[in-house]
Amino acid sequence: MPIPFIEPFRIKVVEPIKQTTREERQRILADAHNNLFGVAAEDVFIDFLTDSGTNAMSDRQWSAMMVGDESYAGTRSFARFEAAVQEVLGFPYVLPTHQGRGAEGVLFKTMVSAGQYVPNNRHFDTTQANLLALGAHPVDLAVPEASDPQRDLPFKGNMDLEKLEAFIQKTGPGNIPVGMLTVTNNSAAGQPVSMANLRATAEIYHRHGIPFFIDACRFAENAWFIKNREPGYADRSVGEIAREMFSYADGCTMSAKKDAIVNIGGFIACRDENLKLKLAERLIIQEGFLTYGGLAGRDLEAIAVGLREGISEDYLAYRERHTAYLGDVLRAAGMSVYLPTGGHAVYVDAAQTLPHIPPAQFPGVALANMLYIEGGVRTVEIGSLMFSHPDPDTGQVLTAPNELVRFAIPRRVYTRSHLDYVGEVASVVVRQSEKIRGLEITWAPELLRHFIAKLDWVSSAN
Ligand code: F0G
Repeated sequence: MPIPFIEPFRIKVVEPIKQTTREERQRILADAHNNLFGVAAEDVFIDFLTDSGTNAMSDRQWSAMMVGDESYAGTRSFARFEAAVQEVLGFPYVLPTHQGRGAEGVLFKTMVSAGQYVPNNRHFDTTQANLLALGAHPVDLAVPEASDPQRDLPFKGNMDLEKLEAFIQKTGPGNIPVGMLTVTNNSAAGQPVSMANLRATAEIYHRHGIPFFIDACRFAENAWFIKNREPGYADRSVGEIAREMFSYADGCTMSAKKDAIVNIGGFIACRDENLKLKLAERLIIQEGFLTYGGLAGRDLEAIAVGLREGISEDYLAYRERHTAYLGDVLRAAGMSVYLPTGGHAVYVDAAQTLPHIPPAQFPGVALANMLYIEGGVRTVEIGSLMFSHPDPDTGQVLTAPNELVRFAIPRRVYTRSHLDYVGEVASVVVRQSEKIRGLEITWAPELLRHFIAKLDWVSSAN
């Protein structure tokens, strides 16, 4: 019998969630200036804002936390954490950080200067912002099909290799202190990168003498997709595939809040001892000493266990099917779902679902807000509110490639009946889609504006 689609765990601890009325939610959202980041979590019924740090840890992780060694220097917990990263990713040098953006900050402040360029298939908001804050240029070079929500292809997260080569030739490798690749490609609907593309990206960077770092947050889901979609990998274990992926890179930044199935933590890993020593200087100023990097010993213990659980194939098989199931219920509800569904999230094409709302009025925010009002479901816009930003040189506003709403699924938290409920809420929203209005910004900061922007509904649908 094939493995059924079923949660490969049972529930030992439960956290009650609160139901609210539609009227209450309308008031709560208005009080939060129509920005879902401002809504208190206890006023959310199903929280798909992010899969980051929202995971349910296993009994083994919780018990490992009890043996956390909270010494400042040379903790036993660091040794266990370091051994797990070395085993699962294969890099010899490991520096813990408080989360992924801490790792990015340390890496970029050490390697990147103002005016330089850092290519990626697509930067996520924090890597983009970390570079912009340094006066550097984040450059997105994803394959064109990444921006086409309807083409069902296996590796839409890939780097556009021709564009990368042309970009390096035009810019000059001397202006590119580090090259990145994000697996899976979160800003391109969580789509995976193939091993062939990863290898070729590494080859291009290395031929030009550019160090290659992987943004590794969801490496295990990416490895799972390689196993199932790329010829030649079906018989390799996810662990072996992950190590092959990292074998092509000089290092990685990692948010452990994703595929290490914890609530906080991250790291930088690399192969070059000299680089590690340079990074260490910045790490101590910004994050903490080399053996804790902004984390408690117990956090390091939880990551060490979670990294190994994250590459379990029973777990990954369930994870992929769970996410695909949410895609099916949203499609059945009449939403335009980005194809294929990604590893950690389902992305809905808001421009398609609400075609009467122009990008400047944030169709993704409108859709996300209506899902909250109708059913207490919190999602996040990944579109023009999150990604439009002025070019540091020209000041010209660069727009987002798609207007998406992301339903990011916390690991091991929600059951299939939670997903069915979300499908019902989506139907209610779709039935009234023509009446949904866009929004306008009344206040926003310059960087990472989506987190704290204030918005108002526009007065009438156009
Ligand atoms: N890189 C990618 C691809 C990410 O998705 C994230 C976080 C980070 C880096 C930064 O890691 O949050 O630990 O500082 N993404 C979360 C999300 C926040 O919701 O997708 P962090």
